[in-house]
Amino acid sequence: MAEYINTFLFGIYPYIAIFVMIVGSILRYDQNPYSWKADSSQLLHSKGLRLGNNLFHIGILLLFIGHFVGLLTPHWVYEPFISAGQKQILAMSAGGLFGSMAFVGMSILIWRRTTQDRVRATTKFMDMAILLILFVQLILGMLTIPVSAKHLDGSSMIALAEWAQHIVTFRGGAADFIMDEALIFKLHIFLGLTIFLIFPFTRLVHMVSAPLKYLLRSGYQVVRKR
Ligand code: HEM
Ligand code: HEM
Repeated sequence: MAEYINTFLFGIYPYIAIFVMIVGSILRYDQNPYSWKADSSQLLHSKGLRLGNNLFHIGILLLFIGHFVGLLTPHWVYEPFISAGQKQILAMSAGGLFGSMAFVGMSILIWRRTTQDRVRATTKFMDMAILLILFVQLILGMLTIPVSAKHLDGSSMIALAEWAQHIVTFRGGAADFIMDEALIFKLHIFLGLTIFLIFPFTRLVHMVSAPLKYLLRSGYQVVRKR
């Protein structure tokens, strides 16, 4: 039974989540293109936004790159340069640093969204929900660090990377790699996949369009005082 659930959660659910993310995003853009944005709240209350938002975004973008490269680079590519154990320590320290930045930034953003009336009034259910879900995901990610510290040979990291690489290359048996890993990794991966699943229904869609828009424009949406 445990094996069946494991195969469903880590072998099949990833494809459901990615499918909903892609199809849902296409449908949202097609049906309601003007909803495709992060809904700026700078005009309502700018205090704490710049610092919180910058710390959060820098932290989370570096984590994103770290996850992408760390999980999807095959072992044989980095083996000549860095051992699995060293890579594990790199992931833990870089991830710990960027995670802490994101943590401070998110705390400011959550404080702002819950205490500032004008921001709270325009906050949709999903805006708050996604902020809190990302916060929980960040905490789960940080909690993997002490668990990883117990086996610094990198064996867990290799198993987790094998899982991710088997998923993205449509090879069978991906879930078997995680079967015996610690619960904290499983919770973190499950919630991560759930974030993919709900992506089209949240303001997270801005991460596809925002970089383009902000490269072509300059800085934030410009809000001038009279
Ligand atoms: C790719 C580059 C990205 C750019 C240029 C960008 C830009 C922005 C901007 C301009 C805002 C609105 C700030 C305001 O209220 O005025 C925002 C909000 C937000 N972004 Fe991003 N973003 C990016 C990536 C991401 C990523 C990767 C995530 C999470 C995985 C993310 C999560 C959020 C969240 C949760 C908010 C709302 C924060 C709040 O509650 O105030 N963003 N982003
Ligand atoms: C589907 C999405 C995600 C997957 C599959 C995933 C997977 C993982 C895995 C396997 C690790 C352990 C790495 C290791 O020890 O070798 C990890 C660590 C971590 N994750 Fe995620 N993650 C996801 C999304 C996120 C998000 C959205 C955040 C931030 C909100 C995050 C924050 C962290 C942090 C801070 C660590 C610990 C430091 C590190 O190893 O980089 N993760 N994640």
